[in-house]
Amino acid sequence: MAESMQGLHRSHRCTEVSGANIGETVTVMGWVAKQRNKGGIIFVDLRDRSGVLQIIFEEDKCGNEAFEKANRLRSEFVIAVTGEVTKRAGAVNENLATGDIEVVAKSIRILSESETPPFPVEENSKTKEEIRLKYRYLDLRRPDLQKKIMLRSKIASEMRSFMSKEGFLEIETPILNKSTPEGARDYLVPSRVHPGNFYALPQSPQIFKQLLMCSGFDRYFQIAKCFRDEDLRADRQPEFTQVDMELSFVDVEDVLEVNERLIKHVCKESIGLDVTLPLPRMKWIDAMNRYGSDKPDTRFGMELCDVSEVVKGCGFGVFTSALEAGGSVRGINAKGQGAMPRKKIDALVDFAKGYGAKGLAYIAIQEDGTCKSSFAKFMTEDEMKALVAAMDGENGDLLLFAADKTTIVWNVLGALRIELGKQMGLIDENQFNFLWVVEFPLLEWSEEENRFKAMHHPFTMPMEEDWQYIDSDPGRVRAKAYDIVLNGVELGGGSVRIHQNDIQSKMFEVLGLSKEVAEERFGFLLSAFKYGVPPHAGLAYGLDRLAMLLTHADSIREVIAFPKVKDASCLMSEAPNVVDEEQLKELGIAIVAGQSEEAEGSAE
Ligand code: AMO
Ligand code: AMP
Repeated sequence: MAESMQGLHRSHRCTEVSGANIGETVTVMGWVAKQRNKGGIIFVDLRDRSGVLQIIFEEDKCGNEAFEKANRLRSEFVIAVTGEVTKRAGAVNENLATGDIEVVAKSIRILSESETPPFPVEENSKTKEEIRLKYRYLDLRRPDLQKKIMLRSKIASEMRSFMSKEGFLEIETPILNKSTPEGARDYLVPSRVHPGNFYALPQSPQIFKQLLMCSGFDRYFQIAKCFRDEDLRADRQPEFTQVDMELSFVDVEDVLEVNERLIKHVCKESIGLDVTLPLPRMKWIDAMNRYGSDKPDTRFGMELCDVSEVVKGCGFGVFTSALEAGGSVRGINAKGQGAMPRKKIDALVDFAKGYGAKGLAYIAIQEDGTCKSSFAKFMTEDEMKALVAAMDGENGDLLLFAADKTTIVWNVLGALRIELGKQMGLIDENQFNFLWVVEFPLLEWSEEENRFKAMHHPFTMPMEEDWQYIDSDPGRVRAKAYDIVLNGVELGGGSVRIHQNDIQSKMFEVLGLSKEVAEERFGFLLSAFKYGVPPHAGLAYGLDRLAMLLTHADSIREVIAFPKVKDASCLMSEAPNVVDEEQLKELGIAIVAGQSEEAEGSAE
């Protein structure tokens, strides 16, 4: 039978034992990582969240009963060992923090036995992620994952302590809310007491934090769970965590200032990274023109080049028709890639098509200065020369062009730039490039809905100097909105909020929300604004994304203890699941046939 604690106390975690403890008696507890019987001496690598410590059992030191117990140990047994710390008799293990010591056991308790685990609990596991996620509790024992989860905890606690010191109050906001569609799809929760009515889980605490400003709390923060029913990617989960904040009596500069200090503090305390302040800033329009993205990875160049003027009158119809339709022609120069085989170029064309391009035109400049090109036949020699010159094309370069609506061109070349940056090894993984992207457009045109939508959210304040264009040219109005970007990932975003009823009403009007609909959805916020509202602004970070980047993880799944996979299911608990007929009845819900089939999950 498994033994229990019964008065035994752990004196140290495994790697808290060091050379300084030589000669002392310690009690350590953890999981058996490895057990070897080397004829008369049993070696056990004991693992806990701090790391690994070597224990040795010699019959003459621990007695026959303990030796027999040690002989029975298998991987993942949970044990407690009391023994004396000694200098390691065998070779020093440079890879272990405790590599120059060992504990000579005097006694052992087997606290729990283990079946053979479905995969070895080891660093850099080769086991498929689906299997590891099914047994996530075992996966989480692996030292590399433990380090990431512990670093995430450190990041959260450093954020918390910084915010508290800066006078932010930690206040919780509700999880069961009213659905206010705009943005992602809501997760809905049926109400039993109000049949046919639903709560929505919060996509963010946005409205509540604004109300807290109306109530006078001045500076709020919360480490808040948010829920969005949207397509998942490596940096997106259906439930994720925001470090959310809101401040009163401030403008853009105040928010950026305190957040820069927050970033500096957290990076220093969590991974020892020195971040130089102030952080660089880039206007949204410059980010799009230079990088084709509102979250540019500035760790490498290969910037976009607008060649619309250069190809204006050329003979290549793809270019001229895009320009005539009001679009643009832009290119990137993949330096030194002129010898890229045709097959690889074709793969880039397919990649571009995946981002909405109709094609990708190229000029591959050979080392001898001759060109291979998909469209040279439509161009005069002078036109080609001018185009190559505009792209700073040199012998050995590969020039790639997209012609389309400018938003598509940005999107295609922005993605292609990142892809080529990876392929060409241009990205320094040890660099942390923070960047503020500022002066976002207030509105973006939605082709599907044939109306303007708020680029950030409908409560975002327009820039004062642009408000005059709200009727004549709404697309021109910039917002007091900002994103913080790290290495090409949107880490956080926020804005100054509208606190004037007239501007807010106008915003709803431009967004096509009637007075009645606005009242129905946001009535409580609009009503609060009637009773004295301070100017306020805020920002929210994706904590998962910050932890992912600071731990060099490939996906946010690695920094979330129990993540979901691509189809939003949990491979371990098998959520979501069907529920009892009785539960449904109570809620007044009937399932439409064919809607309750379970989908197979994959991690990607
Ligand atoms: P926003 O929608 O930009 O702003 O969200 C803020 C940050 O949250 C993170 N994030 C996500 N992380 C993981 N999975 C997701 N599905 C996901 N969606 C968003 C991102 C993002 O930058 N209320 C506003 C903030 C404000 O204006 O103060 C908001 O939610 O890192
Ligand atoms: P085509 O005349 O259609 O064979 O196109 C000639 C070249 O132009 C091919 O390399 C196409 O991939 C490329 N192309 C087609 N449409 C576009 C576009 N919208 N932007 C850039 N290149 C394009």
